[in-house]
Amino acid sequence: MTKKKLIAANWKMYKNPAQTREFFREFLPLVADHTRDEIVVCPPYIDLCAAVEETKGSNVGVGAQDLHWEKEGAYTGEISRSMLLDIGCTHVIIGHSERRQYFGETDDVVNLKLKAALEAGLTPIVCVGEVTEDVLRRQCLRAFHAVSSKKAGRLVVAYEPVWAIGTGKTATPQLASDAHIVIRGEAAKAFGQEFADKLRILYGGSVKPENAKALMSEEEIDGALVGGASLDPKSFATIVKY
Ligand code: PGA
Repeated sequence: MTKKKLIAANWKMYKNPAQTREFFREFLPLVADHTRDEIVVCPPYIDLCAAVEETKGSNVGVGAQDLHWEKEGAYTGEISRSMLLDIGCTHVIIGHSERRQYFGETDDVVNLKLKAALEAGLTPIVCVGEVTEDVLRRQCLRAFHAVSSKKAGRLVVAYEPVWAIGTGKTATPQLASDAHIVIRGEAAKAFGQEFADKLRILYGGSVKPENAKALMSEEEIDGALVGGASLDPKSFATIVKY
């Protein structure tokens, strides 16, 4: 079955609003007639409004890199689902390995955030990607806990092996495919085979213009989550057009 691939940019803690506008003014014309893949850019919170304004009416969506699971409350420094929706975000990254590693985000927190995003109608991009298959399975199992297949409709999963993130080392298409099969198996257990077959599983970890085509040619790989190489408009456009 062919699914529309999703090519998503994760800018991490790079770029201010002015740089965000500059990026889109160069990037949008490069991908203006590109309809084969869905394109989403996830900048830091402070850039989201500028990104939404710049991309209005274009073929590029905007997502956040995180959200809080509560609707509102006394949570200094946090951002809620309705705030993201209100300004025009459509996607949100959840459980990125940097959040797990540096900010103590647990599988249970990932699960809460996933449920919050789905409830709000945001498209969650849930990141998993530990070294061993056991841990990878556990990450999926706990992220998907108590999420019904009916509610999970928009779910996207990103497989990002921790050793490949920001290192320049990329998983071979074969290795990534094998991990995607494991993730799809867990999704089938949680949501049923039909859902799992339709689930988009992205690969992330040092995706670059030079390796995008080989990775995206794999049947099991339904898109990419791109960090470093998404910061430059030409480089990201080349990846989108792999
Ligand atoms: P990278 O980051 O492309 O710079 O390896 C990917 C990610 O962390 O999402």
